[in-house]
Amino acid sequence: VRSVQSAIARSSGFVSRRSYSSESVPERKVAVLGAAGGIGQPLALLMKLNPLVSRLALYDIAGTPGVAADVSHINIRSEVSGYAGEEELAKALEGSDIVIIPAGVPRKPGMTRDDLFNINAGIVKSLCTAIAKYCPHALVNMISNPVNSTVPIAAEVFKKAGTYDEKRLFGVTTLDVVRAKTFYAGKANVNVSEVNVPVIGGHAGITILPLFSQATPKANLSDEYIKALTKRTQEGGTEVVEAKAGKGSATLSMAYAGAIFADACLKGLNGVPDVVECSYVQSNITELPFFASQVRLGKNGVEEVLGLGSLSDYEKENLESLKPELKSSIEKGIKFANQNG
Ligand code: NAI
Repeated sequence: VRSVQSAIARSSGFVSRRSYSSESVPERKVAVLGAAGGIGQPLALLMKLNPLVSRLALYDIAGTPGVAADVSHINIRSEVSGYAGEEELAKALEGSDIVIIPAGVPRKPGMTRDDLFNINAGIVKSLCTAIAKYCPHALVNMISNPVNSTVPIAAEVFKKAGTYDEKRLFGVTTLDVVRAKTFYAGKANVNVSEVNVPVIGGHAGITILPLFSQATPKANLSDEYIKALTKRTQEGGTEVVEAKAGKGSATLSMAYAGAIFADACLKGLNGVPDVVECSYVQSNITELPFFASQVRLGKNGVEEVLGLGSLSDYEKENLESLKPELKSSIEKGIKFANQNG
């Protein structure tokens, strides 16, 4: 178990358990909403493996007692509890430092993320209403799609409840970064564990904009390769949806990405310096109110939204063409949140 755990710790950047004694690690409660789902289950496993977590609350409308019993047998620090059904949501949320939301329906072949809007917007709205009530200071990691709209919905719900703090709301775009790194390493023939690629914009189709001009280690890839890599990153989700042929969208790679992002949030809360990840947050680095870019994480959540750096002409063009779609997804979310009471 220990070798599996430390392999995961090394590959994912988690702090190795042995580098901490349990007394020196702060108590941190993490809640996963939608924990019995395709993403929720492996994410529950990965969060159980994270030694920075002391309490892990697994919530879903059904099925969580089984997932919680299963995960709870793993001999790692956190205490695991399962909560099923709306009447248990308050208990799941109370005292949470981080709430991760992978609740909702995933895509089937032929669907865009926006096709999920009608169902998932309602789910996100009700879960965020409960967050505002039971753990208003938690950092919220939004995974449910369409992220471009669900994050603005969450912001509106929190504003209405008087609990909104833009530093504590995150759209999880880490999977786009994970994909960009993997695809780049393959083409550039460099060690994937050393690769860094910022991904900006949003989390759907052309709104996903990987900045390969800033990728490290540097590689001299042709314009044609960069275009192909950009397109593959933008359509990485669809690649999985098609391969799963009706059985859902990315779950395992998403759980990995979600665990990386939550770990970064935990490190920030614990005062680890220079924790930087890309995330879709309230932003003023473009004219759009929400935008994904590199963000420095700290004790209050977002410590600093970092600028875009210098872009290639191709990236500048793509940035301009993604703005109208992202703007309308943001407006759609805001409208939904305000229309329905
Ligand atoms: P899934 O259908 O396997 O699981 C979703 C879970 O949410 C189910 O267990 C369901 O019971 C639960 N759920 C539904 N309503 C709920 C409620 N009101 N409260 C609590 N739980 C509720 O779906 P999967 O594959 O896990 O995907 C979940 C979401 O994540 C989808 O919206 C999907 O589009 C999104 N996603 C986001 C990605 C990203 O990069 N941000 C990547 C991949 C998926």
